[in-house]
Amino acid sequence: MTRRPRRPDVAVIGGGPIGLAIAWRLLRAGCTVTVLDAEEPEAAWRVSAGMLSPAIEADYGQEQLVLLAREALAGYPAFVAMLEAEAATAIGFRRVGSLSVALDRDQLEALRRRFQLLRQALRLDVAWLRGSECREREPLLSPRVAAGIHAPADAQVDPRALVAALREATRRRGGLLRRARVDSLAMAGGRVIGVRSGAETLLAGTVVLAAGAWAGTIASPVELPVRPVKGQILRLRAEALPSMLLQSEQVYVFRRSSGEVVLGATVEEQGFDSTATAGGTFQLLEEGLRMVPAMSEWTLAEAGVGFRPTAPDNAPLIGEIAPGLVVACAHHRNGILLAPTTAEAVVRLVEHGQLPALVAPFTPDRYRSRHDPDRDRSQRLAVPALGRPERH
Ligand code: GLY
Repeated sequence: MTRRPRRPDVAVIGGGPIGLAIAWRLLRAGCTVTVLDAEEPEAAWRVSAGMLSPAIEADYGQEQLVLLAREALAGYPAFVAMLEAEAATAIGFRRVGSLSVALDRDQLEALRRRFQLLRQALRLDVAWLRGSECREREPLLSPRVAAGIHAPADAQVDPRALVAALREATRRRGGLLRRARVDSLAMAGGRVIGVRSGAETLLAGTVVLAAGAWAGTIASPVELPVRPVKGQILRLRAEALPSMLLQSEQVYVFRRSSGEVVLGATVEEQGFDSTATAGGTFQLLEEGLRMVPAMSEWTLAEAGVGFRPTAPDNAPLIGEIAPGLVVACAHHRNGILLAPTTAEAVVRLVEHGQLPALVAPFTPDRYRSRHDPDRDRSQRLAVPALGRPERH
């Protein structure tokens, strides 16, 4: 960062897919943008599988999030086309479909209930397949597979290629990408006017906080209820590759455009513990082998850890939380899928002061206390007392 204060229109904290997609779209809208990225090795996107699957990630009580995810998937091809054209590079988008399978009687019962949820309550385009039909579509599946839910619209993208393309597109539009760990926000007259990193200050008309799992560690006027949820994930090299996104109750398996297979992921409340453990690897392989027995012959290439940025209700936080400060974080398991939609929403907010209707339920306002007499100006969010997560 320069020692001489500058005044770009927007400073984006975080150079992952969310921060970069926002930066790129703001540049396209004519803003001047600086992206500040701490280059955290455990940023979620570095190990993310890149599944674009409202069906796999749908959960009970998350109807609004599924609606948003469905819209995000529908809009993904247009985003990919525009990004690939600007960055002159491919990002591995493939509409492969997903197959969620049951491996025993207990899982079969749960899968039946899930099918009702996806089709009737959430109105997703899904079909029920018998075990033999699952294996016809995906011969690598174990004969123990009893049934499956097929979601033909689900897709995948390569998160590392996505970030590389967003960096390139951001640069080509004149955006500045800087390595910097932001410690706190600069304030004046009750307004956020920039960011501080060590002794340096960068002034900005608007600050966008898109720092993933680290969003809650930056000293800001509003304490954000964002915590890291650890995920361990394996990469394997295989001769025969699965053609679809495969998922059981415990794990998912699918191919990368690089030819590797991703097996993920644990879900652990361990704070910022970045250890890849034998237990985590065992848990993934045990269930992975039950689903795809041929995996026992595959080569283990990488064990990685990433931190999913997560709010108490597992839904994103998108919106203005203080004058001059917009947040776009806590995308939990859906960061890659929701990056383009989040970017559109933030551009709308910065340019026109309002969010699209589908994004409005995800403002941080949902955590402001209902009993707060000064609700709009309260700087305290009513959330379980998590405290600031400790940065390692
Ligand atoms: N979206 C996959 C995961 O969070 O593990």
